[in-house]
Amino acid sequence: MQILIKNGTVVRSTGRKQADLLIKDGRIAKIAEKIDTIADRVIDAAGCYVFAGFIDTHTHFDLDLGVTVTADNFETGTKAAIVGGTTTVLDFATQDRGMTMRDALELWHKKAEKSSSNYGFHMAVSEWNDARKAEVDEMFRSGVSSFKMYMVYDAMKVSDGQIYDAQKFIGSRGGIIGVHCENYDVLQARIAEEKAKGHTDPTAHPVSRPQAVEAEGVARLMRISELSGEPAWVVHLSTADGLKEVRAARKRGVEVYAETCPQYFTLDVSRYADPDGAKFVMSPPLREAGDRAAILDGMKRKDIDFIGTDHCSFTMAQKALGRDDFSRIPNGGAGVQNRAELVYTYAVKTGAITLEQMALLMSERAARLFGMYPKKGVLRVGADADIVIFDPNDRHTISWRTNLHACDNSPYEGMEVLGRTRDVILNGEQVVGNGRLIAPYRGQYVFRKPCERYRR
Ligand code: URP
Ligand code: ZN
Repeated sequence: MQILIKNGTVVRSTGRKQADLLIKDGRIAKIAEKIDTIADRVIDAAGCYVFAGFIDTHTHFDLDLGVTVTADNFETGTKAAIVGGTTTVLDFATQDRGMTMRDALELWHKKAEKSSSNYGFHMAVSEWNDARKAEVDEMFRSGVSSFKMYMVYDAMKVSDGQIYDAQKFIGSRGGIIGVHCENYDVLQARIAEEKAKGHTDPTAHPVSRPQAVEAEGVARLMRISELSGEPAWVVHLSTADGLKEVRAARKRGVEVYAETCPQYFTLDVSRYADPDGAKFVMSPPLREAGDRAAILDGMKRKDIDFIGTDHCSFTMAQKALGRDDFSRIPNGGAGVQNRAELVYTYAVKTGAITLEQMALLMSERAARLFGMYPKKGVLRVGADADIVIFDPNDRHTISWRTNLHACDNSPYEGMEVLGRTRDVILNGEQVVGNGRLIAPYRGQYVFRKPCERYRR
């Protein structure tokens, strides 16, 4: 099967140019100013940008919180992902207490069987002991080179000492640990304070977890990494103060990779007062204008490495579990379908970043850190043919009704965005045409190598 993409503007982190691309046997076979080969399918990309397939570094599909399970599983979540231009999701396989990493990985492989985008797994660990350590090499042999630890959530929280030890153990093997950085004790105390004042609605959520709660966690992780001598990955960075800590640590020689999410440069903390404010309850919470400006500045200065969505969706009925107590609202929101158009509208069109930086943030750096480069994350001859044709002239309004995700809300509901993923090639096959999913369930597992520590 040969596909020829003609007349598009090929966008890479190093620049953009008008070029044609020939795809053959699942790979990019040729990129040239003009290709006239006869192909099985010709796609005219005139007026569109052609990107390497986007990589979402942070999704939670089919995640069981105990009280409830995310609205999206891999079937629905990856359908939403692929029509939004995300050709690979890195989801968090989760080792619950009393479970082995091997069992968690096997379970996640089963969950992901009906995927419409490619998928890989980070391993989120809720325990760190000799038994878990003994499984780490097997994870690498299974294509999992990145892990996650939480400073918060009763079911997942580990200690600072465990993070330190895990960084040394996993870092020395070429892996990295993403850490959810918030100060657990302080936020628990603040939740209790809010409840004591009779504040039960979603507006109390950001009050319980203000900027300093994140910044303290980030600062602590930076010091832990300084002491372990191994790299740190800060997941879903949301604050100006947290970013300051990342920058200060880098000046001291700490190797830090920073991820943010669209909600932290597009949505305002005032939304918790909306009638459906519960849908914005996620951790970290939505922030203020100064934080959004700082996050965009971090993207512009390349201090932020990549953008995930933290897609972790719940229906409004599920969100109602916390009707009388904001701290019981399941944390998380839907976003996997809308990342590219949000980045294009709020970061590229506003002049905060260039298209080339969009390529860097949406795929190249994630592919490098997470061991997929140069097969993924870049348009080059020999790379996997995961390709997005993005139409910058489209204008539409985001709605959960037209999104393919399975929940009845979107944090971005009603927002008008510029640009849309028009066509997607996955593993050399066209799977999205004119914004419609034409070939579902074509996702494949992405076996990942150890991390490419490009900030070392
Ligand atoms: O609120 C969120 N972000 N839920 C998902 C779990 C996490 O913290 O990443
Ligand atoms: Zn998350």
